[in-house]
Amino acid sequence: MTLAGKRIVLGVTGGIAAYKAVEISRRLVDAGAHVVPVMTEGAARFLGPTTLSALASEPVRTRLWDDPATPIPHTEIGQAADLILVAPATARIIAAYRMGLSTDLLTNVLIATRAPVMICPAMHTEMWEHPAVVENIAVLRARGVRIVEPESGRLAGGDVGTGRLADPAAIVAAVVREFAPRDLDGLSMVVSAGGTREPIDAVRVIANRSSGKQGYAIAEEAAARGASVTLVSTVERPVPAGVEVVRVETADQMHAAMERIAPDSDVVVMAAAVADFRPVRVAAGKIKKHAGIPEIELEPTPDILAALGERKPAGQVLVGFAAETDDLAANAMSKLERKRLDLIVANDVSAPATGFQHDTNAVTLFTRGEPPITLPLADKRTIAAGVLDKIVAIRHAAAG
Ligand code: PMT
Repeated sequence: MTLAGKRIVLGVTGGIAAYKAVEISRRLVDAGAHVVPVMTEGAARFLGPTTLSALASEPVRTRLWDDPATPIPHTEIGQAADLILVAPATARIIAAYRMGLSTDLLTNVLIATRAPVMICPAMHTEMWEHPAVVENIAVLRARGVRIVEPESGRLAGGDVGTGRLADPAAIVAAVVREFAPRDLDGLSMVVSAGGTREPIDAVRVIANRSSGKQGYAIAEEAAARGASVTLVSTVERPVPAGVEVVRVETADQMHAAMERIAPDSDVVVMAAAVADFRPVRVAAGKIKKHAGIPEIELEPTPDILAALGERKPAGQVLVGFAAETDDLAANAMSKLERKRLDLIVANDVSAPATGFQHDTNAVTLFTRGEPPITLPLADKRTIAAGVLDKIVAIRHAAAG
């Protein structure tokens, strides 16, 4: 009963995904939580309050006024909560919460609480990608609001795109993690994320498909568990709360940043996809098409991880990733040895929904002299949690 004793306000707003709140509520109750359901008027058009009441811990509240139990339901609900979870969250509730508007019971509860707030957006892709929604989410994230990103898939009306409510199991896993012990308190950690870009000329680069999602998820999870985290990143993504970002572009720049930060870090995680080769010469201007097909001579980039492995301070946990398409175990183990790592996280990037760009990943954790651990397909934050659990175990084993 991982959520025993936790009082969770489940805010449900008016979208087609409102019906999934029933499963979320049931899972939270199964995990031991006391679920206080609050629905907006819009939500009640999609989901019968009686249904949600039956699967929550108390009857649904919808009104700010005329509550038979109390004249001030919003403060009582907000003050007593251990967490406010809004699932699904519409563009309207996200905007209202960002602005601090208090127009109905749920918006009042949201601003009458000091408990952590977790928002699970669900809307059409056009709405999710609208600059106003993007900005509102960025502001809420910067304030420390937890965002459970929507997934890609079928949306209402048969459209396909990003905006579908995250899987109820993933939402409940995020809630469970919220109450996880702060087992990285006091640790300093550096994480690399994204793909490096090696210039060919003034406009062209050699790049790869890394989105940085996996590296950012590790940084976000580590910060939530108490670590002081620096992200060395090549990509522009919303910065997780409490994480410091150092922007780089090339392998050389990433190398310099990692060499500077790693010696003072308790944990180093290289989740970035670093180019293995770069052009020997970078043309000053744009190489002209009419000059014929250019021959671009390549040279190897520095192996950042191997260099960090050579100078690893005592007690540091050094973690690499391995992006493989075949012989996963053999290739990963050889990288573990060659780069003197404590842990390598191998992903089969040819498998469906795994590795580059996806919101999900599936990995195997290899260490020396222990059986590998498989983390099955899950959102990248859940994978990050599994990787961090293993890092904690390595540190405990080293401490005796
Ligand atoms: O960013 P996403 O879209 O979320 O995708 C995640 C990911 C697929 C990029 C991530 O899960 C991953 O696998 N990252 C490592 C990719 C990679 O470069 O793997 P590799 O097997 O080529 O390299 C092995 C390790 O050496 C990696 O930790 C890499 O960061 C490091 N390396 C590689 C080359 C180099 N010149 N210097 C390095 O430090």
